[in-house]
Amino acid sequence: MSRSAHPAGPRHADVLPEGHYSAPPTDLNALDSKVWAETVTRDEDGVLTVGGIDVKRLAEEFGTPAYFLDEQDFRARARAWRTAFGGDADVFYAGKAFLSRAVVRWLHEEGLNLDVCSGGELATALSAGMPAERIAFHGNNKSVAEIRRAVEAGVGRIVLDSFQEIVRVAHIAQELGRRQRVQIRITVGVEAHTHEFIATAHEDQKFGIPLAGGQAAEAVRRALKLDGIELIGIHSHIGSQIFDMSGFEVAAHRVVGLLKDIRDEHGVELPEIDLGGGLGIAYTSDDDPREPHEIAKALTEIVTRECEAARLATPRISVEPGRAVVGPTAFTLYEVGTVKPLDGLRTYVSVDGGMSDNIRTALYDAEYSVVLASRVSDAEPMLCRVVGKHCESGDIVVKDAFLPGDLAPGDLIAVPATGAYCRSMASNYNHVLRPPVVAVRDGEARVIVRRETEEDLLRLDVG
Ligand SMILES: Cc1ncc(COP(=O)(O)O)c(C=O)c1O
Repeated sequence: MSRSAHPAGPRHADVLPEGHYSAPPTDLNALDSKVWAETVTRDEDGVLTVGGIDVKRLAEEFGTPAYFLDEQDFRARARAWRTAFGGDADVFYAGKAFLSRAVVRWLHEEGLNLDVCSGGELATALSAGMPAERIAFHGNNKSVAEIRRAVEAGVGRIVLDSFQEIVRVAHIAQELGRRQRVQIRITVGVEAHTHEFIATAHEDQKFGIPLAGGQAAEAVRRALKLDGIELIGIHSHIGSQIFDMSGFEVAAHRVVGLLKDIRDEHGVELPEIDLGGGLGIAYTSDDDPREPHEIAKALTEIVTRECEAARLATPRISVEPGRAVVGPTAFTLYEVGTVKPLDGLRTYVSVDGGMSDNIRTALYDAEYSVVLASRVSDAEPMLCRVVGKHCESGDIVVKDAFLPGDLAPGDLIAVPATGAYCRSMASNYNHVLRPPVVAVRDGEARVIVRRETEEDLLRLDVG
């Protein structure tokens, strides 16, 4: 990994300032297939294309900023996840990464299930025809109305997140004359992010019921006594953007330990275990994610081994990848508005979007890459910071990246791997209008989430 913090030193043009960046790439026009959707390439004029359509045409038709999503790639990744376990596990796409009705239909057609975590996500899923029994309902504070709607609809499972919710869901289900299938989300004392994980005794966070101190065991005790719910399994989600499987190893060990305790205390072997999502993707060339079939093999081996050691029948596994399905399938296209070189520092490139369409850089210090998309260039690399148009100095899209030195207003630039947690976390800060999501496939582009209009904004403002 060549990412380095350059020592602060005299600030003249050939000394790079402090920051997180690799050495300038040898070819600024090259596209690293790790970070781009499957059908993205450059045409003979050097213009970036997706699904056979070039970005100049896309910008003309749909405007900028806009997210362009490669439908073929989305479907291929969904399929890869479904087949990775050879039918021995259930894959629930995590809708929080990005959800729209078109996406729900693709998931349905490709045989995936869906994890939702709000009434809005549930409504979107149901309105697009996802069968309720293929929906899992999550959340640490589901409202009574949301629970009622989910039970009435007949969702496949509700993932219980607190002692109050165990009683609440059981009560509502009983009132409705149903027996709701549930899992209990526990915290196993593992926190995993990227290449590291931390195993601790306690987890200081709002999700789940701690295994530590016997709380999870007590939750199971209570759930097993209630008529309105049927406890089918234990759920654990350990973090995000994970590359190292050892966090899952510790988590599976602890979850299976609980299953064994449940068997010993209650004589019940719960049939399911959910290991959550959090599998990493490549945002830059420095990231090396694993393929779904490798992850599936590793998870299956871990759970099987742990269950054999505990003399338990291996439960059915489920996983909830969000980012790893949709993240790499989309890029954001921006138009450059201003180019501002700061002597001895870097060049600030202002685009027509920003933190309202990608909050991840400001929120998590996330790293992205960027390319000149409307043409190729042989100009010398220029260290840039791609920033938005918002009234906030932290309004950064790409913190440090090299773009050609002849970059100019009117050029189009594209930021890859923005399919997950960009449109779904988008805001109206500064009353900026949220960009559309355009699905591209086989030479055709269609809007699946339209651009917001000033009318949309004003419709909410009823004062
Ligand atoms: C319970 C649960 N499942 C799945 C996910 C999806 O994570 P990712 O998109 O990183 O795969 C999340 C993300 O926060 C989550 O909280």
